[in-house]
Amino acid sequence: MLQEKRGLFFDQDFIDKVMQSSDIVELIGQYTRLQNKGRSFMGTCPFPSHNEKTPSFSVSDDKQLYHCFGCGKSGNIFTFLKEYNGLSFPEAVEYLAKRAGLPLPERSVAAKQNKNSNQIDLKKLNEICRDQYRKALSDLPEGHPAKVYLANRGLTVDLIELFHIGFAPDSWDFISAELKKKNYSFKQLSELGLFKSKDGQSYYDVFRNRIIFPILSPTGDVLGFGGRVLDDSKPKYLNSPETSVFKKSKTFYGLYETAKEIRAQDYAIVVEGYTDLIALYKFGFKNVVATLGTALTEEHAHLIKRYTKNVIVLFDGDSAGINASEKAMRHLLKEGLLVKGIYLPENNDPDSFLQKHGAEGLNLQIQKAKDLYILYLDRTIKKYGTAQVSDKMNIAGEVAPVLGEVGLGSLRELYVQETAFRLDVEESWLLKVVAEHNQRQSALQARYSSHETARPQAEGLMPNEKNADKEAESDVFLAQIETIKLKNVSVLERDLINIMLMDENCLQLALSQITPQMLQGLEVLPIFEKISSLYGQKPTDFGNLTAVLMSFVEPKSFLAWHLKKPLSELTSEQRTRMVNDCIAKLKTTRERAKMQQTLKSIGSNPSPEELEQIVNMKKRQWDLKGPK
Ligand code: UTP
Ligand code: MN
Repeated sequence: MLQEKRGLFFDQDFIDKVMQSSDIVELIGQYTRLQNKGRSFMGTCPFPSHNEKTPSFSVSDDKQLYHCFGCGKSGNIFTFLKEYNGLSFPEAVEYLAKRAGLPLPERSVAAKQNKNSNQIDLKKLNEICRDQYRKALSDLPEGHPAKVYLANRGLTVDLIELFHIGFAPDSWDFISAELKKKNYSFKQLSELGLFKSKDGQSYYDVFRNRIIFPILSPTGDVLGFGGRVLDDSKPKYLNSPETSVFKKSKTFYGLYETAKEIRAQDYAIVVEGYTDLIALYKFGFKNVVATLGTALTEEHAHLIKRYTKNVIVLFDGDSAGINASEKAMRHLLKEGLLVKGIYLPENNDPDSFLQKHGAEGLNLQIQKAKDLYILYLDRTIKKYGTAQVSDKMNIAGEVAPVLGEVGLGSLRELYVQETAFRLDVEESWLLKVVAEHNQRQSALQARYSSHETARPQAEGLMPNEKNADKEAESDVFLAQIETIKLKNVSVLERDLINIMLMDENCLQLALSQITPQMLQGLEVLPIFEKISSLYGQKPTDFGNLTAVLMSFVEPKSFLAWHLKKPLSELTSEQRTRMVNDCIAKLKTTRERAKMQQTLKSIGSNPSPEELEQIVNMKKRQWDLKGPK
């Protein structure tokens, strides 16, 4: 069911298998120290948004769940990866499958990609190289120029460790010799982009005498490298080329480390350089990502949206930086994000600004950051002035395309209002300019895309349709299966569900006694049906049932009540009694509702048959509950 609905890669069997082969205690144990406390493990909450000192985060080994008694976060192994590392559901499945050594099913897209290239090998090779570069750095004697350089730039041992920074020695065959020893083929080596060959037989290292910044995927795979010289020689940075695993247009430097911080603070700071990112991180701004010396793309914007919808663009303060930030703004706005910008004082990049003004200085800038669109509007107004009608025409002509693209309709309206106000023109006039621009655009598109049917653009401000298509596509990809909302379930029903999940006998008892009709109209019905169908399909899988359910419900903490007192301490007799009580209650409630309905339909002057009907119903109620 699940896989059809999602129309994608993994079927439920495979997902179950992945879950069974994974150990949530071991996974989460990588992020916080867990101690065995009877039936569960306890530790401090690993989510940065919580930041607690005394442990209130529990992980249940037999249920494969986590729940924080402090901040209330609950979930299974998939939701943990989603929340903590920002992985999409398929990515989490793939990541865990790989970790558990399970081959991906043939039909999955991910498996196909793997087949087309030797993806796994490339990542592994990169990892070997990363480790060699790291070792080379730590082997250097104190006082070596590379160590001096890092120290001068404030890159402490901790930061070097965290970002896996390494060093490529001044040698032509440091890495190539190492890999040759391991018998890798020439094809594999050349695809990596870390070597070149003149004769197709012998290779030499591309990175020589450079500081190495490994570039990681959101799951921590090594995709490529950036290498910086130690002095002012050119080129300042070399980056490893794009490969089948490394696409610069959709990769951020640092994200592996910072994803959780971006989620916790609910905004991302975007910078342009490796060292800018590390400087921000060092000064406590850990919710940061960096592009890789290429422009920020639509794909980057889409990636950010997984973590937050709030972005602050912090590029260099020179004109190149400002231009780049305005280009970035368009992609970010198109994606429906809320975008602010900071223009640092001339000749500063984020790194140098922090050295001069410290965290406080940057904090101040962040607090007074303005919407990037408004900064852009101000700049455009300054360029033309607004004294003449023709100036206003010029300004409107420049901002119209940007306005037309803004993905969030409500935001677009506010920007239109603001722009009209500043230009001192009617909003309707500005809207017309935007609409005219959109029409011209689609006419152009129609003319130049012969194989594609043109999409007629309607009057007024239409959100970019191509974008809408994309959205739909990616929604399929990221879709959170179906969500069962459990906001207003009564305590009694909540406890019933939780007891069913903690005790298989109670589960069977409840399933044999409670019918969907008894739950008609109650919010608890869908979850009950889900349990019934999942358990019906795989009674042997009771151990994973709760964890599987977690993917479907909101709030997830609804399913964690059985981990807490008093439910967690009930004896099995008490549990059975509670289930029976609950069943009885459901029955009486239903009978009473039925009775009320009958009474209503019978009216005040019942026939003898109708009277008998009423008496029978009353009797049934007595049997169930005693007289009332
Ligand atoms: P910057 O020139 O702003 O570099 O380029 P930076 O990060 O501030 O470097 P430092 O502080 O001098 O060490 C920003 C980014 O552009 C890419 C790199 O990714 C760099 O981080 N870049 C820059 C290159 O790829 N090649 C270059 O020659 C220069
Ligand atoms: Mn710099």
